[in-house]
Amino acid sequence: MSDLFLSQLEQNKPVRLEKNGQSICVARIGHEVFAIGDTCTHSDASLSEGDITGTRIECWLHGAEFDLRTGVALTLPAVEPVKSYPVHIVADSITIEI
Ligand code: FES
Repeated sequence: MSDLFLSQLEQNKPVRLEKNGQSICVARIGHEVFAIGDTCTHSDASLSEGDITGTRIECWLHGAEFDLRTGVALTLPAVEPVKSYPVHIVADSITIEI
């Protein structure tokens, strides 16, 4: 069963998805879709409200950047990574593996 449809996702406009009790930030970049934990590891801010540059997403609250491909924290003040979830795309259908 699909979690989202590719046609619903605008380029570089992340969305928040709730699945199995997890908040997930989903972002489409080109033909790829990435899914990482939505809660910034610095404090309690939603990464899906941040801005995307390349494959980085910037937390809107204090500016930490995370790699959308891996969840790794790239800049302070965050140091811990967020989770990274495998994404499966079949035609228009997107499934995120929890
Ligand atoms: S809450 Fe994200 S950088 Fe502070």
